[in-house]
Amino acid sequence: MVAVRPAVPDDAAAIARVQVATWQSAYAGIFPAAYLDNLNDIRIAAGWGDSIARKGHRTLVAEDDAAGRAPVVGFVHAGPGDGEGEAEVFTLYVLRDHQRRGVGRLLLGLLCRDLAPDHSRLVIRVLVENAPARAFYERLGGVAGDVRRLRVGGREIDEIAYHWPDLPRLSAALAGAAP
Ligand SMILES: CC(C)(COP(=O)(O)OP(=O)(O)OC[C@H]1O[C@@H](n2cnc3c(N)ncnc32)[C@H](O)[C@@H]1OP(=O)(O)O)[C@@H](O)C(=O)NCCC(=O)NCCS
Repeated sequence: MVAVRPAVPDDAAAIARVQVATWQSAYAGIFPAAYLDNLNDIRIAAGWGDSIARKGHRTLVAEDDAAGRAPVVGFVHAGPGDGEGEAEVFTLYVLRDHQRRGVGRLLLGLLCRDLAPDHSRLVIRVLVENAPARAFYERLGGVAGDVRRLRVGGREIDEIAYHWPDLPRLSAALAGAAP
């Protein structure tokens, strides 16, 4: 069974492990191979210690009790967006072997429930080439917006914003209530 809970600083290593493994599977062929091969989960974990504790940010982890000694199989991290009332999801990752089982939807739903009292809208930016994640956001009613260019590992890569202008409505839809 999968359960979602708020992350604590001690989850930093598990979160970094999920992030690195998911980047390496989801971004193969998008990010340069040398960049993916050199990701250092110890350094990434150090950054997560700060992010989890950061005021105004929210990190949730999904644990699967069938996953043995490494139960964290996914996580989501959000904080304030650019505009008034806007929240931004900065990272949402589910390990490849646990995808398409509703974990991403569960994480996003519980995050939205937490954010809805203080935020009116949501934005998530995703690589243009990341077709599966775009399908996930489109399925959840995200409205495609602006595209901006990033430089990752010496390569220029475009990312596109998906907007939900009514966060409480998204939250209700993810909770199973009538949208
Ligand atoms: C994108 C991601 C977070 C989705 O999480 P998930 O747990 O796999 O998705 P869910 O099982 O909750 O999917 C919910 C619905 O979204 C849609 N969806 C999800 N993945 C999809 C895919 N690969 N292709 C098409 N539709 C998809 C489906 O409609 C799905 O419902 P269904 O399985 O009943 O048809 C996850 O696949 C992931 O971590 N991918 C790699 C990393 C990544 O790209 N993260 C996002 C970066 S912004």
